[in-house]
Amino acid sequence: MSISLMQEATAFREIATSDASACAALARAVGWPHRAEDCEMAIALGHGRVATLAGEVVAVGLWWPYGDSHATVGMIIVSPEHQGAGIGRRLVQELLAQAEERSLMLNATAAGQPLYERLGFVAWGEVCQHHGEVQDVAAPTLAEGTALRAATAADLPQLKRLDQAASGLPREALLASLLERGECVLLERGGRAVGFSILRRFGRGLVVGPVIAEDDGDARTLVAHWLHGRRGQFIRVDIRANAALARWLIDHGLGPAGSVVAMVRGTLPVAHGPARLYGLSNQALG
Ligand SMILES: CC(C)(COP(=O)(O)OP(=O)(O)OC[C@H]1O[C@@H](n2cnc3c(N)ncnc32)[C@H](O)[C@@H]1OP(=O)(O)O)[C@@H](O)C(=O)NCCC(=O)NCCS
Repeated sequence: MSISLMQEATAFREIATSDASACAALARAVGWPHRAEDCEMAIALGHGRVATLAGEVVAVGLWWPYGDSHATVGMIIVSPEHQGAGIGRRLVQELLAQAEERSLMLNATAAGQPLYERLGFVAWGEVCQHHGEVQDVAAPTLAEGTALRAATAADLPQLKRLDQAASGLPREALLASLLERGECVLLERGGRAVGFSILRRFGRGLVVGPVIAEDDGDARTLVAHWLHGRRGQFIRVDIRANAALARWLIDHGLGPAGSVVAMVRGTLPVAHGPARLYGLSNQALG
C-alpha cells in the first residue's frame, strides 16, 4: 500500500483495556518485553489512542495524567510494517491534544527522539536500564535505628508523600495499582519513613521500581532487599543516571541494557525532596 493510501485508510480511536493483547503484540514486534498484563495496567491507569488499518491495530500511544499540570507519555509504538508513514506523528499529536495544557514528560528511544524534538520536547536527562540474572546479594545491613518493613495499602498516604517529595507529582493511583500487583518495602529511620521500593512481575521477569530514597546508600538497601535470595532470577531496574548505583547493579548481575533520553515539553515538576527518585516504576509511567 502506498504511504498516502495508508495515511487515508488509518483510523484513530480511544484505547480500551481490551486492546491490551494487541498492545503487547506491537511491543513484541519492536522488541519490547511488555506482557498483555503489563499493557492492561498501563491502559487502565491512563488514556490513549490506537490507530487501526482494516480493523487491525497498527499503532498505540498512551499518556498518564498526574494532577492538572503534568502527565507522562509513553508506549508509543507503530508496527514495523507501518512505520515512516506519518502514523507516529499523528498519534503523538492526538495525545498532545488530549493532554491539553499539561507539561509532558517522556523517555525517548533513539527511534522516537527526532519525532519528539519536532513536537517541542527537549532532552533534560537520561534513564538507564539494568537487567540480568541476579548473582548472590547479601541481605542489606541496617544501621541502628533503621528498619525495613513490608508496606500495605494502609501505608499509601506515606508512600504518596515520599513519592511526591521525590517526583514532584501526585501519583497515588499509580502507587495503589503497583501495590495491588507487587510487594512494597518501607525504610524507616528513627520511626520515620524515609524511602520505599516495590517489586512486581513485569516483562521477562521481575522489576524493582519505583525506588525512592534520600541517598545512594538507602537506594542500594532498597534494591538489595529484593535481590537478596533471588540468585538466578531475571530482574530489571530502570535508574536515573547514577554511576555509583549503576556500578553496584552491574557488580550483582544487572548489566546495562541501554538508555533512553528523558524529555520534557513544558516545565519539569518541582520535587522538594529530601527523598529522590532513584528507580522508575517503568520507562513509560515514570
Ligand atoms: C518512533 C515511532 C513511533 C515513529 O513512528 P512512525 O510512524 O514511524 O513516525 P512518522 O512516520 O510519523 O515520522 C515522524 C517524524 O519523525 C521523523 N523521523 C522518523 N524517524 C526518524 C529518524 N530515524 N531520524 C530522523 N527523523 C526521523 C520523520 O521524518 C517524521 O518527521 P516529519 O513529520 O517532520 O516528516 C516508530 O518508529 C516506532 O514505533 N519505533 C519503535 C518503538 C519506539 O521506539 N517508540 C518510541 C518510544 S519513545
